[in-house]
Amino acid sequence: MNPPSTRVSIIGAGKVGSTLAQRIAEKNLADVVLLDIVEGWPQGVALDLMQARGVERHDRQIVGTNDYIDTANSNIIVIAAGIPRKPGINREDLIKINAQIVTEAAKQAIAHSPEAILIVVTNPLDIMTYLAWEASGLPKHRVIGMGGILDSARFQTFIAMELGVSIAQVCATVIGSHGDLMVPLPRYSTVNGIPIAQLMDAGAIDRIVQRTRHGGAEIVGLMKNSSAYFAPASSACLMVESILLNQSRLLPCSVYLNGQYGVQDIFLGAPCRLGYQGIEQILELELSDAERAAFQDSGKLVLQSIEEAETILKNAG
Ligand code: NAI
Ligand code: 2OP
Repeated sequence: MNPPSTRVSIIGAGKVGSTLAQRIAEKNLADVVLLDIVEGWPQGVALDLMQARGVERHDRQIVGTNDYIDTANSNIIVIAAGIPRKPGINREDLIKINAQIVTEAAKQAIAHSPEAILIVVTNPLDIMTYLAWEASGLPKHRVIGMGGILDSARFQTFIAMELGVSIAQVCATVIGSHGDLMVPLPRYSTVNGIPIAQLMDAGAIDRIVQRTRHGGAEIVGLMKNSSAYFAPASSACLMVESILLNQSRLLPCSVYLNGQYGVQDIFLGAPCRLGYQGIEQILELELSDAERAAFQDSGKLVLQSIEEAETILKNAG
């Protein structure tokens, strides 16, 4: 009998889900189960990825399914199912549709994989992560939202582009909500250890911060019928890697805050260490008064949206 393999199940085999499946398999991190509501679609994507093995030369299994039974005993569940924000869908409709999809997905997936760690990608991110946590019944350290890694990747990219330096030397972090009120932290951003304030003027930093805040919207503006998926899939893959390989990487993720940064009972982006048990530690950075106020403002909006989402779910029965 073969030994049990490491398995990641991805709920939602759309652009983010299928790109993430490709990254996980081709990095040889785990076998992948892709689940989608559309019959035939995840099976087709999985077969395509299996055939790519003839060129990529890895032996990871990729399975497509419409049945949660096939996700059983996963080490990690990633929820990337839902609709993206698009013209004609207002915020309330987006929350309503995605809240129902995410809560159902979390319940079903965790019923078949009670030991799994749950990573949420679906937007609005911090709200969906909270709802998934509630629906799953999992302990807080095993539910994590992906937002801050993507926002930080964008911040780092714009710094490297502005200075014409290798991205390999840039470290930058973004905390707070995955939305307009995110909190990029120039004070904690460096190129090979040198703070960016010594390398560019305040105007340039401000421009980069604004572009980072609107990083997702800029891409939707260009693509029209899609939101970003390559960088989001890379960001979720980094979380999967840190967990499966027990790397304890320090990454900004949406995590349950219980007093840290003066914020209570919400999921919000903060630096945390990710290892095989999930969140090992949430780091409380020293923030200036302005940074702390910005963080708390983003938290207030998330709290308000969670209350809104819970009312919508209650009224929907
Ligand atoms: P997409 O439309 O390409 O894929 C979504 C998939 O979910 C579709 O294949 C759809 O059939 C499936 N789906 C819908 N209802 C389902 C259900 N009940 N069960 C299983 N599957 C279901 O969208 P894309 O681009 O992959 O984005 C997915 C989500 O991720 C969106 O909410 C988007 O806003 C979010 N996102 C979040 C990011 C972040 O940084 N947190 C970054 C990029 C996207
Ligand atoms: C992004 O930031 C849409 O959340 C997605 O690209």
